[in-house]
Amino acid sequence: MTPDAGSGPDASQVATRLLDWYDRHHRTMPWRVPPAERAAGVRPDPYRVWLSEVMLQQTTVAAVRGYFERFTARWPTVQDLAAAEDAAVMAEWAGLGYYARARNLLKCARAVAARGGFPDTRDALLALPGIGPYTAAAVAAIAYDEPVAVVDGNVERVTARLFAVEAPLPGARPWLAALAVTLTPEARPGDFAQAMMDLGATICTPRKPACALCPLTEGCLARAGGIAAELPRKSPKPEKPTRRGFAYVATDPSGAVLVETRPAKGLLGGMLGFPGSDWSASPEPAPPLSADWQARPDTVRHTFTHFHLELTVLTATAAAGTNPERGAFVARTAFDPGALPTVMRKVWDAAS
Ligand code: ADE
Repeated sequence: MTPDAGSGPDASQVATRLLDWYDRHHRTMPWRVPPAERAAGVRPDPYRVWLSEVMLQQTTVAAVRGYFERFTARWPTVQDLAAAEDAAVMAEWAGLGYYARARNLLKCARAVAARGGFPDTRDALLALPGIGPYTAAAVAAIAYDEPVAVVDGNVERVTARLFAVEAPLPGARPWLAALAVTLTPEARPGDFAQAMMDLGATICTPRKPACALCPLTEGCLARAGGIAAELPRKSPKPEKPTRRGFAYVATDPSGAVLVETRPAKGLLGGMLGFPGSDWSASPEPAPPLSADWQARPDTVRHTFTHFHLELTVLTATAAAGTNPERGAFVARTAFDPGALPTVMRKVWDAAS
């Protein structure tokens, strides 16, 4: 599946125009080396590039900024992160979602620290635990200027429009990646990758692309055909099912709160939470201790990648000295709701 030369916009013109635009309009980000500094020989820190790319998967730049600043202040190097306690990292990650990313982040940090630093090619990066094809390509291109294509959702959209690819996502993904390869220049591939992302985020946006401002409008086949805003097409998604469950918030007479660390595998793995039932069409109640449980009036709603969740929150005050079947009581002063993943934060708010 290799695209023909001559079947789309001219690759060297795309690179020249896009890099030119990036020099003038690049976004400023705490992990980024701006193009003028990059040209003067400043190299991005692979640790910061890697950390930002892992955080940015499925999450917006605006949401990531604060997390990135806190992580790098607390763990300035990959060695520092590798030496961190799992629970401390999971607590800092709380609220960013997709918690498997945080577990994989730690796995990768420890492997990198053990080998004495990041490898500098996509293939060697890909061999690390917890690094997938996207992250390996992004770090290789941005930190080491390896001329590899970096294909995220923004780049898929820009590419689909440049070549007027009508086939819908996700099926069209391999084809779009092959087209993106044909665009990637030998010179400044790291800036090119980030320029594609910036163009996708600011000009070639999903709904109303600002084609009048776009540096690539001349060779853009979707623009020529008047279908830029319609691309990329998407196959209809199956509806998300709704699952239900019970969540139990117990305090003891001193105000201590009953929490548990969720199993490492599975949804919210390794994160702090409140004990609860299974999440299913018809969950069984599963109180973690016997007490006079009272249902709260508000149902907690949260949407995960593959389902909607509705939780009934129950609260109780446990008798002093009660031994819970699950979890452990944590003194109110040691309990930080900020360390909870968002759905558990909602449970806490509904219980309070
Ligand atoms: N999204 C993912 N990685 C990015 C980056 N390096 N710059 C801007 N947006 C991004």
